[in-house]
Amino acid sequence: MCGIIGATANRDVVPILIEGLHRLEYRGYDSAGVAVASESGLNHKKTVGQVSVLEHAVTEAKLSGHCGIGHTRWATHGKPTEINAHPHGSSESLALVHNGIIENHSVLREKLMTHGYVFVSETDTEVIAHLIHFHLTQSPSAEDRLTVIQKALGELEGAYAIAVIFADMADHLFGARMGSPLVVGVSSGEGYLASDPLALLQVTDQMRYLENGDVVVLTPDECTITDLKGKQQVREVERFQHGDQAADKGSYRHFMLKEIFEQPRAIKDTLSDKVGQSRLLDEALGVDGLSMLKDIEQLHIVACGTSFHAGLVAKYWFESKANIAVSVEVASEYRYRDPCVPENCAFLCISQSGETADTLAALRYAKEKEYVTTIGLCNMPGATLVREADIRLLTHAGIEVGVASTKAFTTQLVVLFWLAQVMSKARGHLNKAQELNVVQGLHALPDQVALAGEQSSMIEKLAFDLVDKPHCLFLGRGLHYPVAMEGALKLKEISYIHAEAYPAGELKHGPLALVDEQMPVITVAPDDHLLEKLKSNLQEVSARGGELINFVSKSVSLDETDAKHSIQVEGMEGDLSPIVASIPLQLLAYYVALHKGTDIDRPRNLAKSVTVE
Ligand code: M6R
Repeated sequence: MCGIIGATANRDVVPILIEGLHRLEYRGYDSAGVAVASESGLNHKKTVGQVSVLEHAVTEAKLSGHCGIGHTRWATHGKPTEINAHPHGSSESLALVHNGIIENHSVLREKLMTHGYVFVSETDTEVIAHLIHFHLTQSPSAEDRLTVIQKALGELEGAYAIAVIFADMADHLFGARMGSPLVVGVSSGEGYLASDPLALLQVTDQMRYLENGDVVVLTPDECTITDLKGKQQVREVERFQHGDQAADKGSYRHFMLKEIFEQPRAIKDTLSDKVGQSRLLDEALGVDGLSMLKDIEQLHIVACGTSFHAGLVAKYWFESKANIAVSVEVASEYRYRDPCVPENCAFLCISQSGETADTLAALRYAKEKEYVTTIGLCNMPGATLVREADIRLLTHAGIEVGVASTKAFTTQLVVLFWLAQVMSKARGHLNKAQELNVVQGLHALPDQVALAGEQSSMIEKLAFDLVDKPHCLFLGRGLHYPVAMEGALKLKEISYIHAEAYPAGELKHGPLALVDEQMPVITVAPDDHLLEKLKSNLQEVSARGGELINFVSKSVSLDETDAKHSIQVEGMEGDLSPIVASIPLQLLAYYVALHKGTDIDRPRNLAKSVTVE
């Protein structure tokens, strides 16, 4: 879960590498480094901490060069130290950066040690650097670096995206991908590599997306892509569509806050190709999409983290609207078991990034099974998941930089609700008048989400009450139970407060024992058929002195529960209530973290895109 970048040009590339690393910091941020090739050989700088520390060191050292690589790290093998930071080298003849995990690194390390290689770091990456060097020394033609790299890569097991430069080929930049993402940036007289197009938008929006097994060599004027056996590969140039807006926080203090307030726009954009004036645009499913899906009886949804929570909400919609039986599972479990795939079952995976290793592995596993089709729901148009799923559905949330997912979640919910309704219509459960209702509800949603955001200052104040609490419970019922789970995840990941969510009816089966004056209990109370049941559950909490904080529908009064805070939210009723109800929970997590002073956009131990297992 690291970020890599490379550039070759007829100018100093160090500023490009540093800017790219800033943009990749969301992928990991415990240490960083760059290496450049010049006539004097290879020079590098590595530092512990965020990219700003590296930037300072690079400026002090006046590092410059026309060809270079950079890396921002999220430690997997070895602590975040300068020695473990990338780039790694071998005999001062090459420098390499890597994202991924090499599973057979111990075996390779031992083999290389018998050939006299000395390892200075604890990383699996250093193995790749020495392995390439080893093949270089064995090669009759040292000039043929592509073949050397291909041979070395042939020995690796696991996932990687790498970028390599050599001391004696000062304008050549090499890259390769297997499992971890890598994109080539195309521009006249310059060549780039990066883990994410976002890192390259500073210089180009023209991208070639590498496939697994691709090896690329770039000079300022040329780009050659082959497979691991040396066969030429063609990867067309595609224009990256999100625009270069992500690196800018505007007037917001954090990306997360900006992204929370972008949700009305993100939802509108997501709806733009899916909902017309008076009908649901099932064309968004692609040419054969609807005919493939129309008659399915079951749906398996697989995802991780926040995307998993979106799947859990969607289960309620698919079952109640379209009469499709749904199971929802986390990808890291699904991929390692032997699931029963019933007849007429489709597979749907959800991922903001489209590069999450577990979700991609689950998709590939599913493709070997007897599913009717596979659907990928993703926010990144060029992502691996989008390329590999049979049916692609895109959210148009725009780039999400904050590690804590916000606008990606609500736009996923929008698409999932839309899909459930499209299937409902195709199966004869939604007549014209009902369709019009759904369409109007979706068109009204951005304004409702904006209204929910207006509770911000009240939530900012009440967040002070949670700052000193070590634990917190979240309660919801029905399709607001996964909303409560998402609220708990938001709070724990950015404020580091231990938070758990329960379906409110489960309280008396165990968690009630935790409730006392020290336990804040946050509830999501929409105006729905479970409201009276929820009220009784809340009575159980207040009777034990629990500190209730309720987010309630505007049409609901919960006075009798003696809540410490009850915040009324417009739009928390009807089918789309889970989307509206998510906004105050995101704001609550944000403000608690703000008051605690944590690194909100880059919480400890986490990274935005989990491209390793
Ligand atoms: O990119 P993905 O949606 O596949 O990512 C899945 C999870 O890693 C992600 O949702 C994670 O849980 C977020 N940090 C939650 O805010």
